[in-house]
Amino acid sequence: MHGKDVVLDGMSITYPNGFTAVQPTDLTIRAGEFFSILGPSGCGKTTILRAISGFVEPSAGRVLIGGEDQRGRGANERPTALIFQNLALFPLMSIWENVAFGLEARGVTRRRRRARAMELLELVALTGHEGKKPTELSGGQRQRVAIARALAVEPAVLLLDEPLSALDLKLRQHMRAELRTIQQKTGVTFIYITHDQGEALTMSDRIAVMNAGVIEQVGTGDQVYSEPETAFVASFVGEANVFRGTVAGLENGMALVETPHGRFLGRNPRGLAEGAPAMLFVRPENMGFSGSMAAQVDGRGDGSYGNELEAELERRDLEGPFVNLVMRAGDRQIAMHVRNEGGDPPSGRQRIGFPCERAVVLPEGELARTGSEMAEA
Ligand SMILES: Nc1ncnc2c1ncn2[C@@H]1O[C@H](COP(=O)(O)OP(=O)(O)O)[C@@H](O)[C@H]1O
Ligand SMILES: [Mg+2]
Repeated sequence: MHGKDVVLDGMSITYPNGFTAVQPTDLTIRAGEFFSILGPSGCGKTTILRAISGFVEPSAGRVLIGGEDQRGRGANERPTALIFQNLALFPLMSIWENVAFGLEARGVTRRRRRARAMELLELVALTGHEGKKPTELSGGQRQRVAIARALAVEPAVLLLDEPLSALDLKLRQHMRAELRTIQQKTGVTFIYITHDQGEALTMSDRIAVMNAGVIEQVGTGDQVYSEPETAFVASFVGEANVFRGTVAGLENGMALVETPHGRFLGRNPRGLAEGAPAMLFVRPENMGFSGSMAAQVDGRGDGSYGNELEAELERRDLEGPFVNLVMRAGDRQIAMHVRNEGGDPPSGRQRIGFPCERAVVLPEGELARTGSEMAEA
């Protein structure tokens, strides 16, 4: 099997009722890549998949697969296969017959169909289950049968629309590794859609983060997590404390932001100018207590941080090696994720802070409704 690249060239999609679900988008997904589209429910992820697979035509722009314009090609004529959440296996057929189903219509003999099904069942680690019926398999095993069935027709691009969302948490986590292995063995381009950042971060070569019909950022998991380019990406991927304010000064690629909780310095990747409304983001794991071990390592060398404020402990949740703290500073809460160094939790007023290089200053923008809500000023 060979993966092909997928290019969206200025593609937008407006439904017949006039609603534009996908704004004009330029995106290149490389051949053989595990590429995720991550965003909240309703942002347009499924609509993009439907355009790639041929169930909806772009209103403007083009979809190219392996360099070929797909306009006018129906779903059956494209080198794609689609898997979604509520997969339907044929209950009366055996597992191998389910896998080989798509080959019968192509005139492949029964003997060849069975041989191909056995190869694919080996690929998804289901050898020995070929004679069973779907009801005799677990949810995760059925999902793997669906993947084998989709791969039977040798697609160059496999489109997966939240395929794990019906499974329980443990199985979902197990299936992440399985899917990644299957993708690497086949070399097929996987385009994986999810609203679950954990899935996207663990499996993907690259991720597109999408909000309200717009792809806001494309990058590796590390890039979208550590170098977010918009307020939405910073707040949707992972947890973040947000300080709203105004840029009060600039120095060496950094911006000083005046906030109700103090003046904080942070990286300024978008080049905000003095006077600009801004949001400063800092992750809970980048916060620490002034004078602590962490501050000695991460701070300015004297046990203090570049950015500090006073706060009081409000809640402490022990995770084991780490502790999640909720601190109160005036009218707001601040989340901290610190190493468990033993001993009593800090009480009373504390100086907490974060290194300037671990804070990012971005243009004011819409925040994701998950995660950062608690931590917003
Ligand atoms: N056939 C349709 N007609 C009109 N609007 C639609 C249609 N299908 C989806 N939408 C709207 O387009 C937006 C994006 O939907 P969808 O692509 O399914 O989002 P996601 O997969 O990210 O949850 C939603 O607001 C949805 O209500
Ligand atoms: Mg969807």
